[in-house]
Amino acid sequence: MAGVLAGLPESVLQLAYLVAGVLFIQGLRDMTHPRTATRGNAISSGGMFLAVAITVLWFEVLSPVVLAAGLLVGGAVGAYLAITVETTEMPQLVGLFNGFGGGASAVVAGAELVDVLAAGGSLSVGLTSTAAIAGIIGSVTFWGSLVAAGKLHGLVGDSPVGDTAGHAIKVVFLAAAVVAGLFLVVRPDLGTQPPLASWVPSYWVVVAAASVLGVFLVVPIGGADMPVVIALLNSYSGLAAATTGFVLNNTVLIIAGTLVGASGLILTVIMCESMNRSLTNVLFGGLDGDDGDSEDMEDIYEGQITETSPEEVVMLLETASRVVVVPGYGMAVAQAQHAVAELVELLDENGVDVEFGIHPVAGRMPGHMNALLAEADVPYEKMRELEEVNPSFSRTDVVIVTGANDVVNPKANTDDSSPIAGMPVLNVSEAQSVIVNKRSLSPGFSGIPNPLFAKDNTSMLFGDAKASMQALVNEYKESTN
Ligand code: TAP
Repeated sequence: MAGVLAGLPESVLQLAYLVAGVLFIQGLRDMTHPRTATRGNAISSGGMFLAVAITVLWFEVLSPVVLAAGLLVGGAVGAYLAITVETTEMPQLVGLFNGFGGGASAVVAGAELVDVLAAGGSLSVGLTSTAAIAGIIGSVTFWGSLVAAGKLHGLVGDSPVGDTAGHAIKVVFLAAAVVAGLFLVVRPDLGTQPPLASWVPSYWVVVAAASVLGVFLVVPIGGADMPVVIALLNSYSGLAAATTGFVLNNTVLIIAGTLVGASGLILTVIMCESMNRSLTNVLFGGLDGDDGDSEDMEDIYEGQITETSPEEVVMLLETASRVVVVPGYGMAVAQAQHAVAELVELLDENGVDVEFGIHPVAGRMPGHMNALLAEADVPYEKMRELEEVNPSFSRTDVVIVTGANDVVNPKANTDDSSPIAGMPVLNVSEAQSVIVNKRSLSPGFSGIPNPLFAKDNTSMLFGDAKASMQALVNEYKESTN
């Protein structure tokens, strides 16, 4: 069907796609820095709006009524999620978005095959081969993302499938998907006679086999590795979209998909490096079952924990000339960023050299801490990355760790059997005094104890991060007035 703009020369459509592509690239570039990230988001959204609008007006893909209904329902679900989802649940939401992107690519590629046959056309090698690839990657992405999001949300447990059996299942279903894909390319007519007519069954065998593969690829991966898996599946969803772009011969889908594929892969590599893990280890390392930790919490903490109070912490802060605040996942859970920002501002006003030490994987998604602190109007110059801040701890009077645990765990440097062994951490214990604010001695994401809590120069400020930081703000205001 031809849309309302279809009378215009084809170059108008291609030009609009090119402009959309440029907007995506400029948007991504802006997203590389917190200062310009909001603008980048708006620019990329503008590009996407242009791409969708021109496509809808050019090709009358659906009737205007169906289209409007779809936009309304989709827009309402999107708005509801944007308003209600907590930032701590963002990784699983991103996981779902990736999954739907991959699933849509697989379905659209299949629909194109059906469409071509229904219109009396023939399935060329170019069409069937790209569709088979889109079907495999898209289905793996859809099911893998659902499992990953379920794990992050606590709906799917870490249930390791025995190493050998698990690998065998993956090999069998990968082989099945590839063989069905080859059948589709070599014998596109297979099964397309009545009664199946234009159904193209071998394509749906590809999709079914790849779906099982997607589930078994992610099921054995430990919950702690899920954010990396989500980033990788994000890359896959881009690749699936780009391949579907070839199926449809749609330039903007190829550009957008390639950008997502490349940026997702770069993000995956950065996350692996930040945790000192190889991608192969994340994907095929499986679950240890045991975290490999030889000491238990009681051995480390028994009689070694010093508790402190907001009053005592403020006494330390009054004499400090340099303070570093290390935020972690707990700050996000407590939504303590505004109280933390206020404390830092007060210290700054009182002439203290105060900065944030931000670990690349603090929280549950890349840039999690930076985004929260930016929301609380913390100046970007105050946010120091791990490599920048680590050398400064030895000349720091007080470090306040709020809601962070694994990213300040010295076991990463001292215990080769620990699940975080080799992960670069913030060496906060080099400072004169360390205040650790969390609600209990419970472990962090990796599930291991943290010897930092038992160090001589560490004091524990137990409590919710928001309440504790607010108490410090109030106490500091009182003491400086
Ligand atoms: P975690 O090690 O997960 O520790 C967070 C701590 O916050 C917990 O020990 C918890 O202790 C505390 N907490 C929770 N709610 C709190 C509240 N309301 N108030 C105060 N404290 C609260 O966090 P982290 O140090 O940020 O490390 C991140 C972890 O996630 C790392 O293991 C990292 O490898 C993993 N990870 C992150 C990413 C990305 S991209 N960020 C990707 C993959 C993996 P209590 O329960 O005692 O309060």
